[in-house]
Amino acid sequence: MNLKERLEQYTTEVENVITSYLPPETGYQKAVSEAMNYSVKAGGKRLRPLFMREVYRLFAGGPEEDGRDDSVRAGIEAMIVEPFMAAIEMIHTFSLIHDDLPCMDNDTLRRGQPTTWAKYGYDMAVLAGDGLALYAFQTAAKALGGSERSQDVARCMGLLAEKSGVGGMIGGQTVDVELSGRPIDSQRLDFIYRLKTGALLEASMMIGAILGRADMSQVKAVEEMASCIGQAFQIQDDILDVTGTTEVLGKPVFSDEKNQKTTYVSLYGLEKARGAVRDLSAQAEEILKSLPGDHSFLEYLINMLITREK
Ligand code: IPE
Ligand code: IPE
Ligand code: MG
Ligand code: MG
Ligand code: MG
Repeated sequence: MNLKERLEQYTTEVENVITSYLPPETGYQKAVSEAMNYSVKAGGKRLRPLFMREVYRLFAGGPEEDGRDDSVRAGIEAMIVEPFMAAIEMIHTFSLIHDDLPCMDNDTLRRGQPTTWAKYGYDMAVLAGDGLALYAFQTAAKALGGSERSQDVARCMGLLAEKSGVGGMIGGQTVDVELSGRPIDSQRLDFIYRLKTGALLEASMMIGAILGRADMSQVKAVEEMASCIGQAFQIQDDILDVTGTTEVLGKPVFSDEKNQKTTYVSLYGLEKARGAVRDLSAQAEEILKSLPGDHSFLEYLINMLITREK
């Protein structure tokens, strides 16, 4: 199986894991679970769970090259890693639902479909985002069940909260919206990128590392690698906002200009922005070299950051 085929197969596997953990659409409150599931099922690249599982496998090992699997290894992975894979995608989707709200970026297209607020109304979109944020922790807590790894699982739940909240994604989004329409210096811009986008990628990969029994210095290296990947990822997102097409991206172009955002592109220009994506990806690859395991698929994912068109 080549790396492109591996990406397709892994994305399907991740898709199945995520779907299996979604809430039932029943009861008087089903309007909210419908809105939650709509947004998650709308698709997306599923990069965060892909990165999480692959970093886990660096440390814990994965299926054999010939597809043979050891059932104990696969069982542990399913029991402790899969709930977190679903949880991180729920948090990410919650961040997107709220990011698109009229009071934030005011966008009407996401993942090729009407945004949650455009489809279900402003009220349901707020509740669906809140619902997903909390359902993520309910889901992650399933990794506690019957596992002798409860300390590591609890540590990962704390990390997920930390990287999603005021010290992470929400903190970054706060400065992003607060400074819309105002000039931003490079320090604040870096802060925004590290937090609004970097933090959830850091959580994905650090959780993979902790569950895979990486030691403290390895978890730290993974955090740095993920931070570079996160920043490169957001700069590429800003590049695509001006060079991409709505059809391919599945979301509106020129959203940043509409919202008068200072971005890496508006501050430094396209060429420098492209250079920064290359440099940050190279830094991430350098850190990856110091980690154990088979790096080929992670290298492929990191490279995708530079070449991706959506
Ligand atoms: C979009 O993230 C928001 C950013 C943090 C730049 P993705 O590009 O990963 O979105 P999906 O999940 O593929 O839709
Ligand atoms: C948002 O950045 C990052 C989040 C934490 C959701 P953007 O506002 O640039 O993301 P898109 O372009 O709408 O996906
Ligand atoms: Mg935004
Ligand atoms: Mg946005
Ligand atoms: Mg964007």
